[in-house]
Amino acid sequence: MTTIDSPTAVGSGNAATDKFKGARFTADTSPERLSAIATEALAGLSALIHRHAVTYPEYRVLKQWLIEVGEGGEWPLLLDVFVEHDIEEVNSTRFRGTKGSIEGPYYVPGAPELPAQCTLPMRDEDRAHTALVLRGRVTDLDGAGLGGAIIELWHADDEGYYSQFAPHLPEWNLRGTIVTDSEGRYEITTIQPAPYQIPTDGPTGQFIEGAGWHPWRPAHLHLRVTSPGKQPIITQLYFAGGDWIDDDVATATKPELLLDPRLDDTGRKVVSYDFALDPEAD
Ligand SMILES: [Fe+2]
Repeated sequence: MTTIDSPTAVGSGNAATDKFKGARFTADTSPERLSAIATEALAGLSALIHRHAVTYPEYRVLKQWLIEVGEGGEWPLLLDVFVEHDIEEVNSTRFRGTKGSIEGPYYVPGAPELPAQCTLPMRDEDRAHTALVLRGRVTDLDGAGLGGAIIELWHADDEGYYSQFAPHLPEWNLRGTIVTDSEGRYEITTIQPAPYQIPTDGPTGQFIEGAGWHPWRPAHLHLRVTSPGKQPIITQLYFAGGDWIDDDVATATKPELLLDPRLDDTGRKVVSYDFALDPEAD
């Protein structure tokens, strides 16, 4: 039963699907390219069916499960956890700036605009957790500061829930659109996020449990950094030494994206991170 204190996978999943369906996407894919990709995908599937001698009961369970993934609104979750990291990897090889990572299903545009030095919107119960101060600069590849650059930051609360995907949270909790100062600097105060499990009460969770895998993601911040004429960066920042860093269910960590905060004398965790943006690609 859904309660205000326990958002469900289906609630979270349907919110993710509804937000995704709100936009219409197109891709400039030729029939030849579509045919080549689809042929290889089907050939790969054919090969594994033969290699593992997949049975009719297994085939029927697969069909039933695929239907449930759709009805539960979990396609964004499933694809972003298991597939997006490869898409990100092949599309970022030509860039020299800050490493990207997967966007995941929980980005929402239009978070409240905040000045370069700011605190993310949060509840009193969020403030009870360790404060985290993330500061640094947004620059071009030569290190020149990019004034007026936009940093969109979103992350889960201490229980692993994202605002707008869990009905008990205020609309913009732990989300903000930060504008760098004239020299590209920023200083954002938020809270230290915790590792979280991706939703386990829906078909994605059933699949993970059935396969004997785990559903954990390491603690992370999501960021989208943009500046006119520059290639946007979508990435995540993680915490050195944290749980699940080397065993992320979404395979989305990178050594270049690890933070190592230090405690200051007021008990806050403080860390610097600079973002370098490539020139805008064609
Ligand atoms: Fe996340």
